Amino acid sequence: MIAVRMRRLRRTPALRGLVREHVVRVEQLVQPLFVVERTEDAGPISSMPGISRYTVDDAVAEAGALHALQIPAILLFGIPRKKDAAGSSNADSGGVVQQAIRAIKNAVPEMLVIADLCNCEYTDHGHCGVLDAAGNVDNDATVAYLTRVALTYASAGVDVVAPSDMMDGRVEALRSALDAHGFIDVALLAYSAKYASAFYGPFREAAQSSPQFGDRRSYQMDAPNVREALREIALDIEEGADAVMVKPGLPYLDVVRAARDSFDVPIAVYNVSGEYSMLKAAIANGWLEERAIDETLVAFVRAGADIVITYFAKEWAVRNR
Ligand code: PBG
Repeated sequence: MIAVRMRRLRRTPALRGLVREHVVRVEQLVQPLFVVERTEDAGPISSMPGISRYTVDDAVAEAGALHALQIPAILLFGIPRKKDAAGSSNADSGGVVQQAIRAIKNAVPEMLVIADLCNCEYTDHGHCGVLDAAGNVDNDATVAYLTRVALTYASAGVDVVAPSDMMDGRVEALRSALDAHGFIDVALLAYSAKYASAFYGPFREAAQSSPQFGDRRSYQMDAPNVREALREIALDIEEGADAVMVKPGLPYLDVVRAARDSFDVPIAVYNVSGEYSMLKAAIANGWLEERAIDETLVAFVRAGADIVITYFAKEWAVRNR
């Protein structure tokens, strides 16, 4: 019997490179960007070291810097001047996200602009949709409203709309409305398997979008479920999603893998704010080395993701340029 020596191919960097199975490409990274309507809301986010909220002008400059690093896409989140029960500033064609889409597409046309579509940053109660008299999120009213909002993003020139509200039937409603208005090329990236997660904490500080009562468990998914995620994804594909998403990322790599094994559409994973802050905190304390970031990003690719949405995109691109 010949001895199997697995270490033979690990001996040098060149040998390891030769047999490397997965690699993160800058072309698959998406950098989320927070855009504020009021200048006084701009600036660093304390729970997300290295990440800031930008004015529209500064977001344009940042998009240029990301483009120079070959990052192909940004995911926009708007923080409006005023919030109300209906989230009415979200459907304003001159709203903060609509302004940012226009300005970025005008200044950096090659940059793919993806707009997160949800109401939680725009409502004073912080829920993702329209509330009924009992204070529950009204599914169909929310779908109708977010569809109107999406048309304003499309008119502003967005490349991709990414609904993150988790209402039922939204993908079909969005696809029909976009097509009916001639926006046949605006793609839909559905947050299909989005869990009610504790890992969104820092984002909610960044976007000032914490629910003012209750939680999101009646619309976002329950952490222990994976078969349900596959049903959500299948439905979104049937309804016309061009690509689907699993969110959060690290605690849900099994869901990414299950989705990869079951579907042939592009799969995105969202390495969310809490995952970012955890690593940043540990690195800042000297408890982890920076290469924990690289190890994290390649884990998403290994699990089967095509698109990786991550607050680390820029620093990864700077380090790997
Ligand atoms: C909803 C939305 C959230 C995130 C992305 N889209 C927050 C939520 O559902 O509470 C979280 C992203 C992150 O934590 O980085 N508009």
